[in-house]
Amino acid sequence: MFIKALSESEIAPGGMRAVELDGREIVVCEYSGAYYAVARACGHAGARLERGALTGWILTCPLHFAQFDIRSGEALSGPVPKAPAGAHPAPRDPALKTSALRTWPARAVSGWIYVDID
Ligand code: FES
Repeated sequence: MFIKALSESEIAPGGMRAVELDGREIVVCEYSGAYYAVARACGHAGARLERGALTGWILTCPLHFAQFDIRSGEALSGPVPKAPAGAHPAPRDPALKTSALRTWPARAVSGWIYVDID
């Protein structure tokens, strides 16, 4: 069941915005003229992903920098361990994992973005 989420004018090209639809917290992302809807909470420790960075189709978590493909929700890389103050960023630790993000179909119709929250 597609539900009206927000106006297309509320998301800049390449941008994202958090919405709540029927009790689900979702981030709607724009990439190359299409819209994608992913879970708002990071699959690692639940950080709010709209506070991260969207580069093309890659969404980077603001807290420990895990990266996700907004098209599929796939986790592309895991969290980065916290480095001591002043140190160079620590390398990614393969032992630190994140879950993939849930995704929902999204589409634009007449200036509005709809998300199928099933
Ligand atoms: S909460 Fe997102 S990588 Fe840790």
